Amino acid sequence: MVKILMVCLGNICRSPLAEGVLKSKLSHENFFIDSAGTSNYHIDEAPDKRSITIAKKYGIDITSQKGRQFTVYDFDEFDYIYVMDQSNYDNVIRLARNQQDIDKVSLILKMINSNDNLDVPDPYYGGEQGFEYVYQLLDEACNSIAKKLNS
Ligand code: 4NP
Repeated sequence: MVKILMVCLGNICRSPLAEGVLKSKLSHENFFIDSAGTSNYHIDEAPDKRSITIAKKYGIDITSQKGRQFTVYDFDEFDYIYVMDQSNYDNVIRLARNQQDIDKVSLILKMINSNDNLDVPDPYYGGEQGFEYVYQLLDEACNSIAKKLNS
């Protein structure tokens, strides 16, 4: 079983969507996919309604997900940790105990983009169109992740 963790700040907008999108592209028998937030702001909450809506538009149900906070034990549990932006990266790396932990962490947009802007923008304070854009970025990145992990 290959285990993949998606991480953002609140675990209600971007990482739940990333979890749902990647789950839709990989077999449940061989891959375990989860998400977490670096903050404790939304523990036990359902994803943001706008993430639920955009996922549903593309045939993905994320309504049963619940917010949780990233912990140091996630480095033991997961093989790959994909973070949504540089701030998430810094927060996760701060908890790393060794190089092996650090090597598991990468910016998710590195999967599709080798130039400057590697942040999935935080859509929390914006409108619906921000969620559509985030979905498109995550769909492309998850296609790339699925291809890599299936090869
Ligand atoms: P996320 O978005 O990190 O994509 O889940 C946010 C959700 C909530 C907050 C910030 C970002 N917040 O400050 O409550």
